[in-house]
Amino acid sequence: MRIALLGDIVGAPGRQAAAAAVPWLKQEKRADYIIANSENTADGSGLTADLYKRLKEAGIDGQTLGDHAFRRAPVRAALESAADLIRPANLPAEAWGRGHMKLEKAGLPPVFVMTVIGRIFMNNMHGDDPFECVERWLKTLPPRAIALVEIHAEVTSEKAAMGWHFNGRLACVFGTHTHVPTADERILSKPGTDDSIPGAANPFPGGTAFVTDLGMCGPLDSILGRRADRVVKQMTTGIPAAFDVAFGRPVAQGVIVEVDDKSGLATGIERFSLEVKPA
Ligand SMILES: [Fe+2]
Ligand SMILES: [Fe+2]
Repeated sequence: MRIALLGDIVGAPGRQAAAAAVPWLKQEKRADYIIANSENTADGSGLTADLYKRLKEAGIDGQTLGDHAFRRAPVRAALESAADLIRPANLPAEAWGRGHMKLEKAGLPPVFVMTVIGRIFMNNMHGDDPFECVERWLKTLPPRAIALVEIHAEVTSEKAAMGWHFNGRLACVFGTHTHVPTADERILSKPGTDDSIPGAANPFPGGTAFVTDLGMCGPLDSILGRRADRVVKQMTTGIPAAFDVAFGRPVAQGVIVEVDDKSGLATGIERFSLEVKPA
């Protein structure tokens, strides 16, 4: 089974790139499920019920959200009714929506997905302990279920800790939020006698696919999807500027994870960056 994961979708160029990537992922890359972070879909910040629906119609099977989850009030209807849209799980129970989902398709095993928010340098949203949150959820899943966790966080070490802590218990731990793809995609090693690998005495077999950040679906000619001229101006002069979404060179970035249906662990992970023609 092959699962494609797309980085944060930023504005209209991100939607265009993600939609263009879907047939390529299905045909060329044989993706069975496609999951995307859609937290920046609405003009660079947040999601609406309508945009959620449009991404679903474009062929995205599941959507996740991060610190920008609640920026647009119209997202509430989708968050509270859709079974394939989640916000960070480590928030108070009163927050709109849910933090984990079960995706299903005829003839394929189900895929379980949770997203959690990091706690270091995340000023927009304050989550509870993400490790504990994932731990509690794992106890509710069937044995050897295909389960993936997104860690939406600023700091690379916090994301890596999530990967190693759950190594051997999840098919994949993947990072989002920084909008820049990292070149560290790999399957984490089996815990052994090496002290540098946590869990030398633990019973888990290793085999979790990991990447620090998927990157984004958005304009490459930008700073994290926003107009570079505006960001540069503010940073060089101190004069506040409007960080509108940029438009040049739309790209869809992410990874494809290959999972063994029987063990629920990863057998491969491949990074991609697909540039599409501007609309
Ligand atoms: Fe984002
Ligand atoms: Fe974010």
